[in-house]
Amino acid sequence: MSNAKQIIAMLRSRTEGDDDTFFSIALQVAASEARQGRRDTAQEMRSEVEKARAQSSRGQSVPIPFAAPRGSLEGLIEMREARYTLKDVVLNDRLLTRFNDILRQQRRRDWLREHGKTPARRILFVGPPGSGKTMSADAMAGELHLPLFVIRLEGLITRYMGETAAKLRLIFDETAKRRGVYLFDEFDAVGGQRTAVNDVAEMRRVLNSFLQFMEEGNSTDSVILCSTNHPSLLDRALLRRYDQVLEFVAPTSEQIKRLVLNSVTPMKTVRPVWKNIILAAEGLSQSEIVRAADDAVKMAILDQRNQLTTEDIVTRLQERHSMRTAFMDSES
Ligand SMILES: Nc1ncnc2c1ncn2[C@@H]1O[C@H](COP(=O)(O)OP(=O)(O)OP(=O)(O)O)[C@@H](O)[C@H]1O
Ligand SMILES: [Mg+2]
Repeated sequence: MSNAKQIIAMLRSRTEGDDDTFFSIALQVAASEARQGRRDTAQEMRSEVEKARAQSSRGQSVPIPFAAPRGSLEGLIEMREARYTLKDVVLNDRLLTRFNDILRQQRRRDWLREHGKTPARRILFVGPPGSGKTMSADAMAGELHLPLFVIRLEGLITRYMGETAAKLRLIFDETAKRRGVYLFDEFDAVGGQRTAVNDVAEMRRVLNSFLQFMEEGNSTDSVILCSTNHPSLLDRALLRRYDQVLEFVAPTSEQIKRLVLNSVTPMKTVRPVWKNIILAAEGLSQSEIVRAADDAVKMAILDQRNQLTTEDIVTRLQERHSMRTAFMDSES
């Protein structure tokens, strides 16, 4: 395309409010500048596009582009605005590195695409309940300034028995139209091999469609995130399709400390005995630890105290252990 044509196309996309096209033409111009040896100009253009993109996705947090899905998608996808960023999530170093790799690929996706590469965008979160999978999906959206769309497959499958695959098609079409983080939460519903006889055919169909849709690339580079508690239930064929599999695990002593500290701030704990707190927290999930610490803070507020003791926190942690036992007793 000549420059004049590119300018016309940019003006047109501007009028139509089609930011994706607008920026992608700008990047084409940058690439052609680079080819003609004007590397500095090319770099300057690219960084302007990146700035504008970050700006426009921040500005998007109110009405139009963030509008909740309507029409045929209503009830299939729930839109949430991201509440977290990476610094809110307590993760081990290995997870953090992988998480940052994904963010980096997504942030520099134009650069990768110019080199014929696709950024990581199909990601599986595996881990026990309450280890921060949903929270991390939220943080990923927050870091990338993208909306978070949550899809509950269980509901989809039971509500649309027989037409689940068609509904999935609609959702995947949406991922191509609107850039965002699409979280297929509690993914076991589709990924697992169901035993209930009459479900099997439907589950197979849904799974096959899912596999097929996952293979399709799209220019928006939306992030497809699946989250599950049961990796063993997942089909091998499915595991291969992910660009990255992130495994969430129980918190270490150091992480227990950070979870408690983050949750009690700004309240102070007088001479905390970490050894006792860590001991009491062992065996609890990240989510239970956060809740216990939060309970301790609430009690202190109600008692009109502005400080916590080790005992306050330990008691609440022990309480969480007994809630767990009570729950297991009632289950059996
Ligand atoms: N790694 C973490 N760092 C900080 N807070 C956490 C972490 N994990 C869990 N929490 C706290 O626990 C809450 C619940 O966690 P979350 O919903 O992300 O767990 P999950 O892994 O998705 O669990 P499930 O498998 O049951 O869906 C979070 O909103 C947060 O307050
Ligand atoms: Mg979850």
